[in-house]
Order: sequence, then C-alpha cells, then structure tokens
Amino acid sequence: MKKHLVELTVNGRPASMQVEPRQSLADALRGELGLTGTHLGCEHGVCGACTLIVDGDPVRGCLMLAVQAQGAEVVTVEGVSPKVGLGEIQSALREFHGLQCGFCTPGMVVVLHHLFSGNPQPTEAEIQEAISGQLCRCTGYQGIMNAAKAVAARHQSNNA
Ligand code: FES
Ligand code: FES
Repeated sequence: MKKHLVELTVNGRPASMQVEPRQSLADALRGELGLTGTHLGCEHGVCGACTLIVDGDPVRGCLMLAVQAQGAEVVTVEGVSPKVGLGEIQSALREFHGLQCGFCTPGMVVVLHHLFSGNPQPTEAEIQEAISGQLCRCTGYQGIMNAAKAVAARHQSNNA
C-alpha cells in the first residue's frame, strides 16, 4: 500500500514518518517513531490507554489517523516524563498504589498532566472528570484519585 509522508512536531521536536492511510496515530508513533510509551488496548476509542495531547487537547490516538496529524503538535507520555527518574504524577501513582499492571498508566499520566498544566490545584470533581474517559481494570481508581489529590495538595502547599 502506498505510504504517505507526515511531518509533525512530537514532544517539541520536528518529526516525520511514512504511514499507511489506514494507520492510527498511536500505531505510527509506536511503530515509526519508536515511542512505545503510548499503549494500545481496545483500539476502538473505549479504554483511553492510547491518549495523546494533540494541539493542546487530549485525543484518542487509536481513533485519529496518522495522516490527520500532518502539521500537528503531538505530546506523548514520553514528552511529559523526565528523561531520568519519575515525574511528580508518576511518583504519586507509585506512592499511592495508583497502578498495578500499568497498562492504563500512560493514558492516566497524559490526562493528569494535561489537567495539572491548566489547573495546578484541581478539585476532586475536576480530577474525576479528567480521568473519566480512562479505564483501569486493576485499581478501582481510588489509588489514582489519591495520587492526583496528593499532587494537587502539594501544589497548594508549595504556593502557601
Ligand atoms: S486503545 Fe485507544 S481508546 Fe483504547
Ligand atoms: S493498572 Fe492495570 S489497567 Fe490500570
């Protein structure tokens, strides 16, 4: 099948990839750019494991075609993570048992990073809303909520 050149920005850097017309953005980021932090679970828009930030908004990477990302600014879980060690959201998820198998975790980290970027001290309801599109089959969500609330509380005490 004929491939198409897609030029975009990924995690702040110019990138290009040759993709098939039917290839999803998440699949292309993993396969063409080696950014395997983005997980593909259901591949039909239900689980949220594939969530990316595209032009500033969370997007299901399995539902967006790679060819639609021409010229877009894409941020993956690698782009919201430090090169070494864990970021504050990742550390809190570990501390509060916000993950078990870890399959949902990249999507959780991406949506929580997006939430905290615009709202450093979200309420419990705002955190629930932010993760409402992310399925986790392991944790029952309480550990994830506790982790996110702890990050929000730390932001509050840092500002006090
Ligand atoms: S893999 Fe995209 S929503 Fe499940
Ligand atoms: S930790 Fe297993 S799906 Fe969330």
